[in-house]
Amino acid sequence: MPFELSEEQLMIQGMVRDFAREQLLPTAMERDRTKAFPIENLKKMGALGLLGMMVPPEYNGAGVDTVSYVLALQEVAYACAATAVVMSVQNSIVCETLNRFGTEEQKRSYLKRLASGEVIGAFALTEPHAGSDPVSQSTSAVRDGDAYVLNGSKRFITSGKNAGITIVTAKTDKTKRHKGISAFIVEKGTAGFSVGKTEEKMGLCASDTTDLHFEDCRVPAKNILGAPGDGFKIAMTALDGGRIGIAAQSVGVAQAALDAAVSYAKEREQFGQPISKFQGLRWMLADMATDLAAARQLTFYAAARKDQGEKYTMEASMAKLFASEMVNRVTAAALQIHGGYGYTKEYPVERYYRDARVFTIYEGTSEIQRVVIANHLLEDRYVGTLR
Ligand code: CAA
Repeated sequence: MPFELSEEQLMIQGMVRDFAREQLLPTAMERDRTKAFPIENLKKMGALGLLGMMVPPEYNGAGVDTVSYVLALQEVAYACAATAVVMSVQNSIVCETLNRFGTEEQKRSYLKRLASGEVIGAFALTEPHAGSDPVSQSTSAVRDGDAYVLNGSKRFITSGKNAGITIVTAKTDKTKRHKGISAFIVEKGTAGFSVGKTEEKMGLCASDTTDLHFEDCRVPAKNILGAPGDGFKIAMTALDGGRIGIAAQSVGVAQAALDAAVSYAKEREQFGQPISKFQGLRWMLADMATDLAAARQLTFYAAARKDQGEKYTMEASMAKLFASEMVNRVTAAALQIHGGYGYTKEYPVERYYRDARVFTIYEGTSEIQRVVIANHLLEDRYVGTLR
């Protein structure tokens, strides 16, 4: 499918590119060192409509399509991948989920504040012993009068410490598999809800990843998303969109690494000439650019299917799988092209390399994406429909 961007999409891309390169890029390296959460930048992004991009304007969103969101996220990731993951979780997993499954009251109380960027959102599915297999989670939610009482712990929660609103899954019926899982909106400050340890990570240092604890935490019954037992489907639907976000993030970081490698190869001289004159490096650059172009198209394809109301679970997994593996290849090659300097903090490529490493892991590992793709391929209705 040849992909042509509309005037509006190009305008959004240009606006976010200018913002990200002026406001986010100059301080990204410093943020990586200090691990400072980019709250001031996120406020500016909220004002620009970047934190609720696909949410309708009546709930303070920008009301744009997924392709525009992908373009914006690529630009933010190009400048600062840690800021991009906060943006991705906020848009794809939190806002989209509330917009799709929330009641009118939930949208007015929570979605409006999230989409405007007034509060940061988090999504708590993973537990210490339930990562790739979220059905095996053990956090419980027991109905008690007009509330559910939550007990248990969540792990690796992006923005866990900084979120004002968190969507939490928990088992409301332990006798059932996925149909015993429900999803709840939990506000910061709710009694019995606390933030545990913050992970010391290899990359994405300015984005916090934390444990969350629930001890007899009473959540109003009206804060359940959908019906009791809908939680797993809500989480899987959220992750379909989230995986497009991670693919876009991968494309953005890979573009930054490729640009850095091209410019370094042109300026660095060895053996009396720029290293860009050597065929070995030229072929590396050619492969990086080709890999990146393929990932970008897969990401647009998944986003466009979503915008057209088509099924896109498999395509989102394909985009996430290919793009996240691609960015690991591209950042490694970019670092290699920089030689010894690439291994130092004088140049940004070592940060790209570290930041990209988690992309094949979070929001479903590469192995889980292959499970999803194979499951869909082997369904009868998919035979002959790949195009
Ligand atoms: N959309 C809607 N429903 C879906 C779905 C989807 N994409 N995928 C599955 N379902 C439904 C199925 O239709 C089925 O429902 P029915 O029984 O009504 O037919 C139900 O869910 C169970 O499906 P499966 O039997 O296929 O479920 P499973 O237990 O075998 O798991 C899995 C499937 C794909 C492996 C899934 O567990 C999975 O995606 N695992 C990875 C989890 C993951 O990505 N975690 C990331 C954590 S979040 C994160 O990283 C966020 C962050 O902070 C950055």
